[in-house]
Amino acid sequence: MVRQRNAKYKTMLNLIFFGPPGVGKGTQAAKVAKHYNLVHISTGDILRAEIKLETELGLKVKDIIASGELVPDELLIEILESTCDKHNGANGFIFDGFPRTLRQAEALDEMMDRRSWKVTKVISLEVPEDELLSRLVNRALEQGRTDDTADVIRNRLVVYLKHTEPLIDYYRKQDIFIEVPGMGTIEDVFASLCGVIDNRY
Ligand code: C5P
Ligand code: MG
Repeated sequence: MVRQRNAKYKTMLNLIFFGPPGVGKGTQAAKVAKHYNLVHISTGDILRAEIKLETELGLKVKDIIASGELVPDELLIEILESTCDKHNGANGFIFDGFPRTLRQAEALDEMMDRRSWKVTKVISLEVPEDELLSRLVNRALEQGRTDDTADVIRNRLVVYLKHTEPLIDYYRKQDIFIEVPGMGTIEDVFASLCGVIDNRY
């Protein structure tokens, strides 16, 4: 049993896609997950689905998301853990939009430890701020997300700087933080990501 777990620990590819809103995490996470046969967990997508279904959880988080604030850590941690449990035996995961706070990062590490898993890499997509804003405006037109309006976009960036950017230090200390340029076409960025994953993993 222990041997099996250790084997899994070595082969599993668990990636965090990191960066501010609009940087391309979701787009790239979907492509990378497909290419490497990983489970893509987008906590934002999970929350939006709950809102659409008007579940108890959806009703609880609806206004928070519409304002660009963060959903309480304990809720997110529970969602993440139960989603991982649904995919026992996966080759690995891509966490997209999680963790967003230090508390979430610590909880993720604890969850991984309990399963003898580990975060392989934290991949940060790097895009200049003016490009981020124009991508978010475009996404608002294409997808009609309630949180892609000018005021809320601004707030989400503020929230990112305050709560999420400090995680860079947390992961640098673990020596698993890597920056990848997020400019260029979707295919360009995908190629850079595959390069990083294939060489450094
Ligand atoms: O990741 P994404 O940008 O899709 O998330 C949309 C919104 O969901 C965030 O702006 C935030 O309100 C909420 N969220 C959160 N905590 C997370 C992920 C998403 O509060 N870990
Ligand atoms: Mg996203």
